[in-house]
Amino acid sequence: MKIAIIGTGNVAKSIGEALSKSNEVVYGSRKPEEAKQKMPNANVQSIEEAARNSELIILAVPYEAAKEAIKEMKKAEEGKILVDVSNPMDKNWRWAKGFNESAAEEIAKHAKGAKVVKAFNTIFAENMKTGQLGTEKLATFVAGDDEQAKATVMSLAKGIGMDPVDVGALEKARYIEPAGLLLIELGYGKKMGTGIGLKLVRSQTATQPQQPSASQPSAQMPQ
Ligand SMILES: NC(=O)c1ccc[n+]([C@@H]2O[C@H](COP(=O)([O-])OP(=O)(O)OC[C@H]3O[C@@H](n4cnc5c(N)ncnc54)[C@H](OP(=O)(O)O)[C@@H]3O)[C@@H](O)[C@H]2O)c1
Repeated sequence: MKIAIIGTGNVAKSIGEALSKSNEVVYGSRKPEEAKQKMPNANVQSIEEAARNSELIILAVPYEAAKEAIKEMKKAEEGKILVDVSNPMDKNWRWAKGFNESAAEEIAKHAKGAKVVKAFNTIFAENMKTGQLGTEKLATFVAGDDEQAKATVMSLAKGIGMDPVDVGALEKARYIEPAGLLLIELGYGKKMGTGIGLKLVRSQTATQPQQPSASQPSAQMPQ
């Protein structure tokens, strides 16, 4: 698959290294000539060129720069899968959103026509190279409105070595993004470092969701 990674930072380099093993990866940079000096073995182009020369785009820029990076793509993202990996933080590393809209939904409003998928934000960059810590596969929670686009991203995550977990529609990114901030708080705030990750533990035997209780009166979960 032809994949464009927008950004040349920590996430871009790690996930780029992982995906290059079985895909054609091109990086999109604001300053491609400078970036080429730092990444001599990588194919670095302008943001627009990289986006045009790809089937799937991973937006690996800070949350606050996402809008600008999308503008730079000059609509090259239309019709393509656009993966949002951002953890919406302000400059003080604090939560930068409310809870009524995720960064992913905001990005989808700016990238109209792209199939936006939320993924990879709950894995520290250095752990994206293998998607694992020791023998444990790290969970990447995936949300998106286009089922095929979501399946493609989940397949890429699985290929790296991660455990992709389908959370549902793009709106569910509202639950995924705070989990990214939780990990950052543990890693940096509580000084556990970046050798940590999230894992979804599943029972070996099939279980049904419990009957709703008084505090959860609705038997039917809204879609
Ligand atoms: N670091 C992690 O462990 C981690 C884990 C999961 C998710 N994330 C998320 O992944 C995204 C990228 O994180 P990162 O750690 O890779 O960041 P980073 O190392 O700072 O790299 C960000 C890249 O974005 C590009 N960029 C475009 N516009 C920018 C702007 N206005 N200001 C700064 N950089 C800009 C830059 O590439 P050019 O200069 O070449 O344009 C830069 O190399 C963020 O949204 C973050 O929340 C990070």
